[in-house]
Amino acid sequence: MSDDPSGDAEPRLGSTPAVTVRPADRADLLDVLRIERNSFSDPWPYAAFESVLDAPAFLVAVGPGVDGDDTLLGYVVGDVMPNHGRDIGHVKDLAVRPDARGQGVGRRLLREALFGLALAGAAVVKLEVREGNDAARSLYREEGFEPTRRVPRYYGDGEDALILVVDVEAWRASE
Ligand SMILES: CC(C)(COP(=O)(O)OP(=O)(O)OC[C@H]1O[C@@H](n2cnc3c(N)ncnc32)[C@H](O)[C@@H]1OP(=O)(O)O)[C@@H](O)C(=O)NCCC(=O)NCCS
Repeated sequence: MSDDPSGDAEPRLGSTPAVTVRPADRADLLDVLRIERNSFSDPWPYAAFESVLDAPAFLVAVGPGVDGDDTLLGYVVGDVMPNHGRDIGHVKDLAVRPDARGQGVGRRLLREALFGLALAGAAVVKLEVREGNDAARSLYREEGFEPTRRVPRYYGDGEDALILVVDVEAWRASE
């Protein structure tokens, strides 16, 4: 994943929204793209999101925005790759609208994605995070991810990526 948190210009949501998390559909993609562009210096293009519409954990969080109307607050993209009976989940993208951050939406999306990936057969889930992305690294650490290795100059601007992994076998067992 790439990440470059930015764009805190919009007013913040006043209270914790009543958030629903559900699978993404095509009608969500323009809102997803808008958040993606507000969140990353090297955003995914529209076609990349289109290509993961059937992924087991492309989820969106919807809840009241600053005007009180239901708004797409964030999304997560997670997929599963076969791996000789020990499938590997991959959280490929995660972002929350700048004005909805810090209210638990990112954590909720991540947890639901991990659960969905476990249900889809993943034994472990991995992701990449920028070394300097303190907010995301803190979230991942709290959710049990551990660093496995560093990929030097993984991102286009030369920043290193850390590869983090969490075991979700226990969630599979509790299906
Ligand atoms: C990372 C991101 C998805 C977190 O979403 P969020 O809804 O703001 O996160 P939450 O409110 O669920 O917070 C969960 C945890 O994340 C960490 N966190 C969130 N914002 C933080 C901040 N500004 N500074 C430090 N830690 C932060 C904390 O550990 C927090 O737990 P706490 O509330 O107990 O302190 C969001 O900041 C974002 O969209 N960033 C830009 C895109 C990005 O970097 N995506 C990740 C790519 S790897």
